[in-house]
Amino acid sequence: MILVTGGAGFIGSNFILHWLAAESEPVVNLDKLTYAGNLANLASLTEDPRHIFVRADIGDRARVAQVLAEQRPRAVINFAAESHVDRSIHGPAEFVQTNVVGTLNLLDESRKHWSTLAAAERSAFRFVHVSTDEVYGSLGANDPAFVESSAYAPNSPYAASKAASDHLVRAYHHTYGVPVITTNCSNNYGPYQFPEKLIPLMILNALQQRPLPVYGDGLNVRDWLYVEDHCAALRLILARGRPGQTYNVGGRSERTNLEVVNAVCAILDEVRPDHAPHATLVQFVKDRPGHDRRYAIDAGKLETELGWTPQEGFEGGLRKTVGWYLDNIEWAQSVTSGDYRQWLATNYAGREAHP
Ligand SMILES: NC(=O)c1ccc[n+]([C@@H]2O[C@H](COP(=O)([O-])OP(=O)(O)OC[C@H]3O[C@@H](n4cnc5c(N)ncnc54)[C@H](O)[C@@H]3O)[C@@H](O)[C@H]2O)c1
Repeated sequence: MILVTGGAGFIGSNFILHWLAAESEPVVNLDKLTYAGNLANLASLTEDPRHIFVRADIGDRARVAQVLAEQRPRAVINFAAESHVDRSIHGPAEFVQTNVVGTLNLLDESRKHWSTLAAAERSAFRFVHVSTDEVYGSLGANDPAFVESSAYAPNSPYAASKAASDHLVRAYHHTYGVPVITTNCSNNYGPYQFPEKLIPLMILNALQQRPLPVYGDGLNVRDWLYVEDHCAALRLILARGRPGQTYNVGGRSERTNLEVVNAVCAILDEVRPDHAPHATLVQFVKDRPGHDRRYAIDAGKLETELGWTPQEGFEGGLRKTVGWYLDNIEWAQSVTSGDYRQWLATNYAGREAHP
């Protein structure tokens, strides 16, 4: 089996659904269930014995050791993190605790577990660390996209905490020989994304005729990748990526924030013409402190070495995403109202694995 941390969050839950649709191998999902963790994302797996949920904090060393000893995974994929830049500006300590200290605990317990394996299992073992393009800092308008050898220059507490965790992961390969791989991916979007992030926030606000807050002049540029393409990249990297390497993952879809918001509005104008044009709801708000101007990712290494290419273009992926939120408005309402916090109590009580 594989151990996934943070599997109740946005990308982690998409990854588990993706994995179990393609593979027969079970997944142990270790998640603390912070505000961003929502087991309702995995409701379709409630009766699936291949999904084993363990509520735990990656910072809880004894518990992580216990789970590894009991479940004996052949790989660990670390999604668990505090992930929202704005929250990191208001409270960086939590980011250091989970993203740095938690990752160190997980790494070190994984190293101990790995060292108990027989030789063949030891060389096949993988620790995949899921990171972000934000560790590379900000680009000028005409700079080339980030490559794996770009210098780290994190600018937000979130990016700094992810950069620190990436360095620890690297060190565990060089110092102890643990077969680690780090991925640095651009902005993901798709189903089950918590509505504090740009795209779901805009979809849900626009549907309710509420203002669409856009930071600064709206011209900050991000690269966007449909979450399913990120999941496919991670599955491929787990199978064939080289230990000790890092891989950039991106969609070659650079857009300004304003372009993204206008694209959401244009789709909603088609499907909800009563309230068109939705773009009149756009409101420019005071910029985020230290807001990076541009990120762009060169995924050439992953493309040439492992043959990965994104299957979804931005316009198609965005259309699917808007469609998903329209079809799953109850999920969105329960997330925004906080009702999803009850989901565990009512649906998962007594169903957690207690290794
Ligand atoms: N969302 C993006 O666009 C993006 C892009 C590149 C990389 N990433 C990285 O991918 C990973 C997943 O991102 P996401 O958007 O799904 O995040 P998310 O915030 O939606 O989910 C994070 C998950 O981790 C869990 N978690 C938090 N602290 C934990 C802890 N101490 N122990 C165990 N579980 C804990 C939460 O309960 C939640 O289920 C993160 O590491 C993030 O840095 C995200």
